[in-house]
Amino acid sequence: MIYLDNGATSFPKPEPVRRAVQEALLTCANPGRGGYEAAMQAAETVFLCRERAASLFDCRAEQVVFTLNATHALNMAIHTLVKPGDRVVISGFEHNAVTRPLHGVGADILIAGRRLFDREDTLFQWEKALRTRPKAAIFTHVSNVFGYILPTEELSALCRRYQIPFIIDAAQSAGMLPLSLRKLGADFIAMPGHKGLLGPQGTGILLCGQVPEPILRGGTGSESKYQEMPDYLPDRGEAGTVNVPGIAGLSAGLALVAETGVERIFRREAGEAAFCARGLRNLGYRVFAGPFQSGTVSFLPKSDCEEAASRLAELGIACRAGLHCAPLAHESAGTLATGTVRLSFGHTCSRQESREFLRRMGEFSQRKL
Ligand code: ALA
Repeated sequence: MIYLDNGATSFPKPEPVRRAVQEALLTCANPGRGGYEAAMQAAETVFLCRERAASLFDCRAEQVVFTLNATHALNMAIHTLVKPGDRVVISGFEHNAVTRPLHGVGADILIAGRRLFDREDTLFQWEKALRTRPKAAIFTHVSNVFGYILPTEELSALCRRYQIPFIIDAAQSAGMLPLSLRKLGADFIAMPGHKGLLGPQGTGILLCGQVPEPILRGGTGSESKYQEMPDYLPDRGEAGTVNVPGIAGLSAGLALVAETGVERIFRREAGEAAFCARGLRNLGYRVFAGPFQSGTVSFLPKSDCEEAASRLAELGIACRAGLHCAPLAHESAGTLATGTVRLSFGHTCSRQESREFLRRMGEFSQRKL
């Protein structure tokens, strides 16, 4: 199988990740809940992962809050910054993990910057929107549908200049592009542990520039005599037993990413995405490609997207079709009615695999799919 659905999750997980999960299942009890060896082993495992994430994302270990996924992290961040009726500026490429919680809280949503791959327009529209003095701003680092890399440093600088608290959705960039919580100065950066960071599903991280409001309340193993959640990081954001085997796997994934280097991973993924984009264009497909593109690319098949993806699966190509939980991004690109077929490349992708993909696509295009 040629796996081109890393935007959904990285697959298969690297061997050190599998080993770390297995090791944790056999050696770890509940962290912070006891002083015996297996509880201490769990605490050390979780702390090591926190330290590795802090080192990769340039922050302090306690600023790393473990979550179930990026959606959980985004919900916590949004719940902290946004109250009913608050104006919130978002980009035109946000995922439902941003728009649904905003809708749920009753925010007044202002969409800024809807032109794909046009950083100048994105910045122009954002500056205009930030002048309206919103209560918060949220933008994705990389569009999960089109791979557009938003001008994250510049947008962060704008938010800081206008003193607007902001959240970055790093779901498609963590482990692929450099990210520094300290330099960006974000209030929160949300990310999954199971995509670019190569950890197991069910892991995520919220990097905290401020103490978040918990969306879950319960045991933390600390301050147990009080009914209020602890007011400090990371405990305030981590109620209940954390996913120790998942975090052990994530820790191994983080080590692999750090060892390989995000710049190298990005060059590889973006290089193959660009190569396949050119190849698909040569085969007559409409491809959404441009400058500032990551390792994700969308195209329009000659038939219905979902049907095309099913046929591609029969040819041994795993990809995702439809709206990718991001109707706003599709609306911005004019593909809300059709959806697209999305290819998202992973850290082990190769030129040989891309050539084979294009060979199969050649057969596919002759069948008018
Ligand atoms: N949000 C993930 C994707 O883009 C699941 O496929």
